Amino acid sequence: MQNEVKEREKFGSRLGFILVSAGCAVGLGNVWKFPYICGENGGAAFVLIYLVFLAMLGFPILCAEFAIGRGSGKGAARAFEVLESKGSKWHYFKWVSVVGSYILMAFYTMVAGWMLYYAWLEASGKMTGLDSEKVSAKFASMLGNPGNMTIWTIVAVVLSFGVCALGLQNGIEKVTKVMMSLLIILIIVLAVHSVVLPNASSGIKFYMVPNLDTIRSRGLGPVIFDAMTHAFFTLSVGIGAMEIFGSYLKKDRTIGGEAVNIVVLDTFVALMAGFIIIPACFAYGVQPDAGPSLLFKTLPNVFNHMAGGRIWGTAFFVFMSFAALST
Ligand code: ALA
Repeated sequence: MQNEVKEREKFGSRLGFILVSAGCAVGLGNVWKFPYICGENGGAAFVLIYLVFLAMLGFPILCAEFAIGRGSGKGAARAFEVLESKGSKWHYFKWVSVVGSYILMAFYTMVAGWMLYYAWLEASGKMTGLDSEKVSAKFASMLGNPGNMTIWTIVAVVLSFGVCALGLQNGIEKVTKVMMSLLIILIIVLAVHSVVLPNASSGIKFYMVPNLDTIRSRGLGPVIFDAMTHAFFTLSVGIGAMEIFGSYLKKDRTIGGEAVNIVVLDTFVALMAGFIIIPACFAYGVQPDAGPSLLFKTLPNVFNHMAGGRIWGTAFFVFMSFAALST
């Protein structure tokens, strides 16, 4: 087993490891899902509950998955077979990981396809000059065309296979390092741009000042459920996905330290995405509780009002597509 571990391809650099493992965590969950569930659950109070679950459940489970990966030198499918004592049944857990990962990918590849489609819409100028209503109608027309969505889902899947086929250092590490770095820079620029939009202050208040109205109307249970499940989703924990990164973790690194890096980067991206999207909802009259369509109904308006918006819009959706692919 030792030899087998030594022969595996390694990450080329420490930054590569951090960005690729954070790349698995950072994805559609941060930029697409977090702002819309935050909008559905009333804003700031939900954000606080979510942060508590990240610290209470997300972080320790991430450490546990890293430990299992590092201890076994394997990913989720084989880790327990290496670690468990003879006769124990821990290895059955791999089926939870496999089934969970398939369920995730079943919708994740489709939403990645939406991102690619929007990159094409922005690049080809089909979004340029549309008002808020027409931008919303574009999303509805996309959902009404399953053939088109299938094609873009297939493009997302083929691209993912392509990057994986290039190998760890030449494929995943190289592509993710560039794309993740650019995405982080871009979301900081867009967040700064959004918080100075007209009427952004109402959005910032919604996002930052707790208000219990939604918790009262929806009930505390559903809000807690959304916050807790999203803490798992956003860190890619619970389906064994992070075990593979643990298996690449060198012994001179502490598991807690690596996990902190990922939780901090992941949370930073999610909070910035909220600063981009929620003030923009208030600026362009999009309901913050619009659900999964929120990003697609809001951001094209932002780009349409920016100088060089077509380029910004294309870049954003291209980087988001890669963030989805790196997951
Ligand atoms: N952790 C992944 C994401 O947030 C699933 O997109």
